[in-house]
Amino acid sequence: MHFIWETMTETPVLQIRGLDARYGTSRILQGIDLTVRSEPVAVIGRNGMGKTTLCHAIMGMGPICDGSIRFDGVELVGRPSHQIAKRGISLVPQGRHIFRSLTVEEHLQLVDQRRPRRWTRDRVYQVFPRLAERRQSTGSALSGGEQQMLAVGRALLTNPRLLIMDEPSEGLAPIVVDKLVATLQAVLAEGTALLLIEQNLSVAAAVSERLAVMVVGRIALETSARELLADTDTQQRLLGIGAAAGFAAAGPTDVERPM
Ligand SMILES: Nc1ncnc2c1ncn2[C@@H]1O[C@H](COP(=O)(O)OP(=O)(O)OP(=O)(O)O)[C@@H](O)[C@H]1O
Ligand SMILES: [Mg+2]
Repeated sequence: MHFIWETMTETPVLQIRGLDARYGTSRILQGIDLTVRSEPVAVIGRNGMGKTTLCHAIMGMGPICDGSIRFDGVELVGRPSHQIAKRGISLVPQGRHIFRSLTVEEHLQLVDQRRPRRWTRDRVYQVFPRLAERRQSTGSALSGGEQQMLAVGRALLTNPRLLIMDEPSEGLAPIVVDKLVATLQAVLAEGTALLLIEQNLSVAAAVSERLAVMVVGRIALETSARELLADTDTQQRLLGIGAAAGFAAAGPTDVERPM
């Protein structure tokens, strides 16, 4: 299955073809085709569909892969994760992975590269002013939204050509999610390619016009945000939105102050 926009002539940043990924004998991804160019792409899907496995497959972080993942034309399958990161892909992991005992500044110092580059600590503090205010706070003192901003800032400091974000809105209160969307739009304006993984359709649609819906390890639908937002039957069929079981349309929330 190919995205309609693959007819465009621009060279893909990321091109995935026929990707299978398994843990032991469990085949999780089954023939994924996905292309990211300069415009953002969001992969959405319910719990357990294989979204994080896709992130880990791209980053060389565990699953055994068959098929092709090309980044700027270079094959990534079979390469170790440090080589993949060095080539210019950065993952903001699901759950953020912020250290409780390190301050905001220490988190950023750890990854700061001392050479001329687009993203510096000062630039991160400019884009996320709340992080500048919280510079000396430890990870354990940060709200969920602040931790997410820190996770994004940390990833940007590696100056990636492609940023992958795995469910950044998970666990955030709606007002904090709005702020997150605004900052992601600011990041995109800086020219970084983005593969966004989301369960929250409204966040995915606010950041990306191009959506791919993952169902049990496959891309079941490629569509535009506009089309999917208008199609409640498809939302219910593929994402469970509106079903009695309840899809996490706004995600679980925790109580925290707005950023
Ligand atoms: N390390 C692992 N070993 C074995 N199976 C795994 C492993 N990690 C994930 N799985 C299985 O792979 C499937 C997909 O999991 P994955 O975490 O990729 O889903 P997801 O779409 O990211 O879900 P969520 O929305 O809950 O984050 C699940 O059935 C899960 O149990
Ligand atoms: Mg996941």
